[in-house]
Amino acid sequence: MTPPSDPHAILDAELLRGRELVAAAGSLEALEEAETSALGRKAPLAGVQRSLGELPDDVRREVGRRTNEVREALRAAVADRRGELEAARDASLALADRIDVTLPGRRLRPGSLNPLTIVEYQIVDVFTRMGYRVVEGPEIETDWYNFQALNIPPDHPARSEKDTLFLDVPGNPDLLLRTETSAIQIRTMEQQQPPVYVIAPGRVFRQDTPDPTHTPVFHQVEGLAVDEGITMADLKGTLASFARAMFGEDTRIRFIPDFFPFVEPGVELAVTCFVCHGTGCRTCKQEGWIELAGAGMVHPNVLRAVGYDPERYTGFAFGMGIERVAMPVFGISDIRLFYDNDVRFLGQFEGVAAAR
Ligand code: FA5
Repeated sequence: MTPPSDPHAILDAELLRGRELVAAAGSLEALEEAETSALGRKAPLAGVQRSLGELPDDVRREVGRRTNEVREALRAAVADRRGELEAARDASLALADRIDVTLPGRRLRPGSLNPLTIVEYQIVDVFTRMGYRVVEGPEIETDWYNFQALNIPPDHPARSEKDTLFLDVPGNPDLLLRTETSAIQIRTMEQQQPPVYVIAPGRVFRQDTPDPTHTPVFHQVEGLAVDEGITMADLKGTLASFARAMFGEDTRIRFIPDFFPFVEPGVELAVTCFVCHGTGCRTCKQEGWIELAGAGMVHPNVLRAVGYDPERYTGFAFGMGIERVAMPVFGISDIRLFYDNDVRFLGQFEGVAAAR
């Protein structure tokens, strides 16, 4: 190896260059690069070191001593700069992580039950206290459970595409979204023998156009009682007890004839308005009555469809719309508010306790 012509000049220049690099390093990573450039194996300083053996004896000692001095000076500069950069990093980390223990705590707002859930729990609670059992069924139903077994003949208007949402599942033309919780009556009776006393809450689907009292997806609670000797008086007594427990002791009920293929006779249930107690107000549209549900005595064809003997057993059933119960209870004039997910609306029910 040829010795450098002027090793002292190289050492002077390297000391200067190294100090500048180190001083200019703005981060620990940049400092590492500066250190490699000034003191690494490929640095000019290392070149001078390697060439010492080629120098004449008298020059070698002096150049060797100065080389060590320059290396030590640069190492010291790197160590000082590293100290500064580490202190700055620690300070900024501490700033980012700092905890101000004097700050007031952030209040977590508890969620609240949807008003429909509150009313569903209240309805279910009244019936479970009378001894009813809660059952459920699938939202996707077959033609059998939603129609045929409920004595709904093929030409009944409730079957038409206008009301029902049919599912387009290849190889399974029978599937639809249930249009009423009455489908759960059949599933329950298929699985057990009388006596049956069940309540079945659930979501139902229809091709209804949304308006203040209709939504395509809404909730119903179905009730079914089948036993020996059940009469219309039991239906009336049960629904009257329910109405009093739900809306107050002075509530009365009214039946007016209605038609549902799965009951005979069929009725529409109304209760005296729990705002005006029957005198007429805005809530009941001046009628004094609020319509709550469809109901009736289980049709013998339905009992036959599930293998029950209609000579031995009789029963009653009812189905009420949860939204239609919740609206007057909470003074809500538009059913669509339940489904807009507006927290200003939903937040109003924060303090309302559910019966369960
Ligand atoms: C039925 O669905 C029958 N299954 C009820 C029944 C059960 C009768 C057992 C006899 C025996 P209806 O289609 O009338 O009946 O609906 C029942 C209740 O659901 C209505 O009284 C109303 O409160 C509610 N309802 C009906 N359509 C809608 C809708 N689009 N949006 C909100 N609520 C509705």
